[in-house]
Amino acid sequence: MPSNAHSLLSYNTFGLKQEADEVVILQHREQLAELIRYRGPRLVVGGGSNLLFTATFKGQVVVNRLTGIEVTETNDAWRLKVEGGENWHRLVCYCLERGMPGLENLALIPGTAGAAPIQNIGAYGVELSRFCEQVESMDWHSGETRLWSADECAFGYRDSVFKHAARHHLILSITLRLPKVWRPVLGYGPLAALGEDATARRVFELVCATRRAKLPDPAELGNAGSFFKNPKVSQAQADALQLAWPELPLYPAEDGLVKLAAGWLIDQAGLKGTRVGGAAVHQQQALVLVNRGGATAEDVLRLAALVRERVSDRFGVMLEPEVRMIGPQGETHLDEALSWLN
Ligand code: EPU
Repeated sequence: MPSNAHSLLSYNTFGLKQEADEVVILQHREQLAELIRYRGPRLVVGGGSNLLFTATFKGQVVVNRLTGIEVTETNDAWRLKVEGGENWHRLVCYCLERGMPGLENLALIPGTAGAAPIQNIGAYGVELSRFCEQVESMDWHSGETRLWSADECAFGYRDSVFKHAARHHLILSITLRLPKVWRPVLGYGPLAALGEDATARRVFELVCATRRAKLPDPAELGNAGSFFKNPKVSQAQADALQLAWPELPLYPAEDGLVKLAAGWLIDQAGLKGTRVGGAAVHQQQALVLVNRGGATAEDVLRLAALVRERVSDRFGVMLEPEVRMIGPQGETHLDEALSWLN
């Protein structure tokens, strides 16, 4: 172990014992001038709740801890400028406590405000894109700051420009617009039961209870939320699958495609509880891979490969990771990370 290695244990909710050459905690914007002088591989992390460090990171990890929330009000909306290092769930609570509803379906999502636009966080029928008006970022190659409109962010399902052309940008702040006319979003299963009695507080409480029942708390059982994306298939493929498995949950997606529930596919492939070393498929939610204690990145990668293979064999559907894989130099993908193991 090189003497300057820094542990990443506190910066990944999977609880993997990986290291980086350097870790910088960004607490003040004044530090940015110094940061842009660094020329090696770089990774910015928020809560580390959607990452899998597959190896030692041979570069600088910047932990975004910029804080601050500025609220302005117009006749019809509240506008919040939130610094990138603010904890997401605390922001949801902050809004509710001050009578600014809207974010309640997104309660308890681990991570930070600055990470939220990268994968366009979403849960229970709501995605960040519904409220995100602007993103402020710094290009760490040029040092320039830039404002991105919602359109420019190119939000999609667990996707945005910050995973593609703007992946070398550090998100400084996000601006959310919460309309004063509140409309509950109750389309997702258990929330529908609230009906006419829905208040933002009730939605918040039910979302928290639902998440706590299904999704493991990273403080107790290491994990990074849904490990795979819900795959999109053609209508013809969805029809054929539904003929063979009538209970298969299907959701309409954009471009005439159909989204399948990856958790259902993994569950039906009989994989709940399957283990590789210290990694396992979660018993309550098959879409979540967990660290049962002492898991290595290799355990998680081999388990992910096994899950992907079994689902493909059974249903002919190829799962794609939702968790971002980080290699020694930066972002990688499952196949590349697996190839390094052999
Ligand atoms: N299902 C099973 N067995 C399982 C898991 C799920 O049969 O082990 C079935 C469920 O009964 C349900 C369907 O699959 O009919 C979907 O499951 P669930 O409602 O739990 O949601 P999901 O599709 O597995 C997605 C998001 C979650 C988000 C929930 C609620 C993705 C990749 N995941 O999960 O987001 O909280 O919907 O909106 O889109 C995350 O991104 O990390 C995350 C947790």
